[in-house]
Order: sequence, then C-alpha cells, then structure tokens
Amino acid sequence: MLDDLKARNRQWAAAKTAADPGFFRRLVGQQAPEYFWIGCSDSRVPANEIVGLDPGEMFVHRNVANLAPPQDANYLSVLQFAVDVIRVKHILVVGHYGCGGIAAAISGRRLGLVDHWLHPIREVHEANRAELDTLPEGRARLDRLCELNVMRQVRNVASDVFVQDAWGRGQTLFVHGWVYSLENGLVTDLNVTVDGPDRAAALP
Ligand code: CO
Repeated sequence: MLDDLKARNRQWAAAKTAADPGFFRRLVGQQAPEYFWIGCSDSRVPANEIVGLDPGEMFVHRNVANLAPPQDANYLSVLQFAVDVIRVKHILVVGHYGCGGIAAAISGRRLGLVDHWLHPIREVHEANRAELDTLPEGRARLDRLCELNVMRQVRNVASDVFVQDAWGRGQTLFVHGWVYSLENGLVTDLNVTVDGPDRAAALP
C-alpha cells in the first residue's frame, strides 16, 4: 500500500543527496532552526514549502486554525522546547484566509469536539464584533477574523511565561503575525511583531 508515496520518498532522498552529499549526515548531528512556525493543519498551507526552507530549518506546530491556547499541553510543550532548548529567534504565527476552522467557529453549526477547540475564535469574534459588523457579510468578515485571530494568538504566545522568561534573561526572540493567501501563495505581515514584554501588552 502507498507504494507511490514510498517511491516518491526514495526519489526525494536521492535528489537531496545528489545535490548535497552531506545533507542528511549534517541533520542527524543537530537541530538548530531559527524559526518556529505555528500554523493551521490545512493541507494547502505547507509550512516549509511556503517560505522555501529545507528540513532542519524550521520547527513546526500545526493545529486547526493555528491556535496558541495557554492550556494546551501539546502546544506548550513544543513552545517550551523551541524557546528554551532550540532557542529559535523568530516565532511565526501564520493564519490563512479561507480557513475552514475560522468559518466553522462562527457558523452556528454543531460539529462536535472541534466546537470546543474553536471556542477561542468565538471569543475573538465577540471581542471585535463592532469592527467586524462594519464589514460586508461573508468573505470580508471572515478574512478580517482570520487576521484578528492571528493577532490574538501572537498575544497568547508573547504573554506566555516561557517567552516572558526568555526575554527576562535577555534572549533575542521575535513573535510575528502573518496571514497566508491560498489564492496567490503570498504571505502578508500583519505588522504586530513583538520583541519584548512591553510590546506584548499593546496588542489588540
Ligand atoms: Co485553516
């Protein structure tokens, strides 16, 4: 089963080795990426590929709707490893327009367990109701909610104790908020980059 995938894997590994004979040997030695990506699980948003990075160059955590919930042990474990052990320099929270998780969160339909997972998005929606209601219903509102959700998750990351402690000991660490467009493959920087505890407090 899945013979096509196994065959493609062999081709991929052979091509990597042909282009750079020491490629895999170096990666075995250590993992020292400068970037930590928190993105959506959506198959159309492949983290490394979008920013042209090879294996070993980006630490990645993905979940439905790119959330950074302060009680989620999975996300927190990855965050702590990225900040304390790997000591990444940049954390990128990357949402995407057309996110099914964002749409589902405010659709009013009951989907099951994921309704609980998506709860933080409904909170972002409520908190920004006045602004969202000024936009045309549908696409424009959902796109803005994608952006607001990224900003909120940037705030979650920046206010986390692991990140606060890193800044406290003088570690260089930036938290960025981006949104990716499925339509043209481009990322937009939301310009909410946080580089220390003072900037974190100013986020929406
Ligand atoms: Co999504």
